[in-house]
Amino acid sequence: MKTPIVILLLAYFCKGQQLSFDSNFRFGVATASYQVEGAWNIDGKGESIWDHLTHTQSSYIVDGSNGDIACDAYHKTAEDVQRLVDLGVDFYRFSISWPRIFPSGHRNYINQAGIDYYNGLIDELLAHNITPMVTMYHWDLPQSLQEIGGWPNPLLVNYFVDYADVLFSSFGDRVKEWITFNEPVQVCSDAYSTGGLAPAYTQDGIGGYLCSYTLLMAHARTYELYNNNYRDTQNGRVGITLSASWGYPASNSDEDVEAAENFLQFKVGWFAHPIFSSTGDFPTVMKERIAQLSQEEGFPRSRLPSFTDEEVALLKGSSDFFGLNHYTTNECSVLPEEDAIRPSQQADHGALCVQPPGTEVGGSDWLYVVPEGIRNLLNWIRTEYDNPEVMITENGFSDRDGDLNDCRRINYFNEYLQNVLEAIEDGCNVTTYTAWSFMDNFEWMKGYSEKFGLYYVDFNDDDRPRTPKMSAYVFKNIIQTRVIDTTYTPDGFEVCAAE
Ligand code: NOJ
Repeated sequence: MKTPIVILLLAYFCKGQQLSFDSNFRFGVATASYQVEGAWNIDGKGESIWDHLTHTQSSYIVDGSNGDIACDAYHKTAEDVQRLVDLGVDFYRFSISWPRIFPSGHRNYINQAGIDYYNGLIDELLAHNITPMVTMYHWDLPQSLQEIGGWPNPLLVNYFVDYADVLFSSFGDRVKEWITFNEPVQVCSDAYSTGGLAPAYTQDGIGGYLCSYTLLMAHARTYELYNNNYRDTQNGRVGITLSASWGYPASNSDEDVEAAENFLQFKVGWFAHPIFSSTGDFPTVMKERIAQLSQEEGFPRSRLPSFTDEEVALLKGSSDFFGLNHYTTNECSVLPEEDAIRPSQQADHGALCVQPPGTEVGGSDWLYVVPEGIRNLLNWIRTEYDNPEVMITENGFSDRDGDLNDCRRINYFNEYLQNVLEAIEDGCNVTTYTAWSFMDNFEWMKGYSEKFGLYYVDFNDDDRPRTPKMSAYVFKNIIQTRVIDTTYTPDGFEVCAAE
């Protein structure tokens, strides 16, 4: 007897359709100059704030290490590009070191050896059909510019545009994807408010906001420069990469719901709203709360700088895509008054966001594994900013042991990517996924103690050999097959235990 068609259809749908990435969805891996290059003083490179901090105050770095040699990527272009070919990636996201191009921080002298190094990398990638995706600023500010105040000094707008101009004119014939800044919240908050990144300043509630004005204007002026002088001939795209954790309320009380929303607006909206919203400018809730608290604290004006109408207009729409770095999720409740340090960015948003109960923690104490967080966040971005094109420019998992059988990392990638597929089903315009990181590297204040790589790097060996972890093969398999196969075990590795 034939099985009725309805039953067949029912069986098919109950089994569940396996979602897959379509053929033009792109996969890549990422690194950043200071984290991998080494060669800190080779071929005319100037000093960066990370060289300075690690050399003068090494106690800031948990293992006392630095990026002087790091992965020595500066001397390994050809072999690293071969590894990218082995992985099968569509693109490689890397950053350019500003002091390698302008050793003095300024355009008075351009270091040809620095230009040559990046030309070599770009040409090698293109020779192997791998698209270069270039970040202009991934945290290694020339030390000379820090000595005049760093990002809180609005003069840096012009200096950054000088630098961007040289990058467009030197590399823009071949580089078609530019990211002006990586993670402005970290550049501003961590570096100038809470001291968690170089130059490790702690003017909480002040430094970070001053920095955000400069950084946003530097971004907008760079976008304008590209439009005016390069877009017609180079036909590339220029955007920005924002870090965003998901935050959800601990309860459905009005206070907790408001706290979680404030957390998102102060952490994501801070840089996203001026660029991606239809109204522009900082989020209203930020402007109102910071003005109110500043007044209570006796400041003569809001600690948050304001934009002119012309600046608001210039910023609005100044990104060809929404670059997203996402790793984790927090559970948020209202910050008790007595716990608020004034002034501080935390008091300003008024949210206390912590580890969601029962979640696994990675090798970084802030990295809680909540796979559905990425789906929720992508949908929030979709509704908040009218469904922009999202390129996931970083997502990944850290451990401390560097185990080659890295099952926890594999589970993380499988589950987060499954949620990306579901977000695409929901209607989110996600086109690109980037794994952080290509290889283990210098994890800022955590030195070499936290490892995010698909490739293990032996930092005790002068030659810095790289070895693919199991996750490298799993990622390659996803790129090839376009599906998540949780049972896939590459040859030579042990099967991961079921969770
Ligand atoms: C984001 C940063 O862009 C990257 O430099 C860092 O290593 C990863 N997060 C992991 O913390």
